[in-house]
Amino acid sequence: NTNTLIDDFGRRVRYVRISVTDRCDFRCVYCMSEEMTFLPRAQVLTLEELSMVAQAFVELGVEKIRLTGGEPLVRRGIDDLVERIGGLPGLKDFAMTTNGAGLRKHAKALHEGGMGRLNISLDSLDPERFKRLTRTGDLARVIDGIHAAQEAGFDRIKLNAVILKGRNDDEVLDLVDFARRKHLDISFIEEMPLGDVSDHSRAETFCSSDEVHDTIATRHSLTPTTTNTLGPSRYYRMADSDSLVGFISPHSHNFCASCNRVRVTAEGRLLLCLGNEHSVDLREVLRRYPGDMQALKTRIIDAMPLKPERHYFTTDGDVQVVRFMNMTGG
Ligand code: GTP
Ligand code: 5AD
Ligand code: SF4
Repeated sequence: NTNTLIDDFGRRVRYVRISVTDRCDFRCVYCMSEEMTFLPRAQVLTLEELSMVAQAFVELGVEKIRLTGGEPLVRRGIDDLVERIGGLPGLKDFAMTTNGAGLRKHAKALHEGGMGRLNISLDSLDPERFKRLTRTGDLARVIDGIHAAQEAGFDRIKLNAVILKGRNDDEVLDLVDFARRKHLDISFIEEMPLGDVSDHSRAETFCSSDEVHDTIATRHSLTPTTTNTLGPSRYYRMADSDSLVGFISPHSHNFCASCNRVRVTAEGRLLLCLGNEHSVDLREVLRRYPGDMQALKTRIIDAMPLKPERHYFTTDGDVQVVRFMNMTGG
């Protein structure tokens, strides 16, 4: 079948994460360094180029698209882009990962544009700590953004919390309680070593998913589920709640063998793995052969053998990938 993307390890690509900007209104300590410079506009894909990339992937059999950043909601024209991608026939799951600050403004347009799911990053419920972790973020605004998304009709909203030892690991139970009260799902994430963030030593802040799991289990019984969003999270259910608790454990439970995804960076680089630099330049085809869908698809198909078997992240504080997280949106 020419309409499918399969790599050399037999893994089928069904999920594409598209970064629509490297910019962000936050500066989360695990994601960016304090003084970060951003790409000049000409290097970033235009809205037309982004929607053409999305269409190419859907025509190649991809079922799920997630828009990421930086922060996708700071991209000008994002509502129009969502409407275009949301209307692609064959797309089954359309989602975004956002810091939540722009949701009061955008949630309604996203929902009406055909977006089905939102993941919202939330690492602390304490306003001052939230400020320290995000450097520029305002907790009240993010919580208001979550409410705005619920009012707009999003029903499967998931929180993402990156847990750092000594920084927010004492908030795990509070975050779970918040998710339960608001009928949200929540995933706990092990920090990955992308970019030299200089704020903290990642070796010292590493907190394994098993520790987070055990903390939650002191209060709530956790039962494994077979829920599968095509993402890396392993979900558990609690006895007395509709909220799912997920764990994303790139270090402690490697999930590369079942990887089904690729990414497109804000500059239009098709990145075959988050933890490696294997990539091909889609922007070059897009600009050399404007509007040529076949040329774009050919470049994507030809990139599949470059997908590496796995990442080689470690927790010893070494940075294996120079690229910062905001280039690829995770
Ligand atoms: P769902 O569609 O709800 O399953 O979301 P998701 O987990 O696929 O996406 P999200 O943007 O919420 O990402 C959560 C975390 O998972 C982020 O820290 C991502 O960097 C990480 N993640 C997603 N895919 C991969 C992957 O293929 N490899 C690694 N190492 N991390 C990933
Ligand atoms: N390690 C793990 N997760 C990260 N994120 C950002 N940087 C990192 C990192 N170094 C998370 C964000 C967001 C998701 C897309 O990735 O918190 O929820
Ligand atoms: Fe922005 Fe997301 Fe990075 Fe935080 S993790 S600085 S919200 S791109």
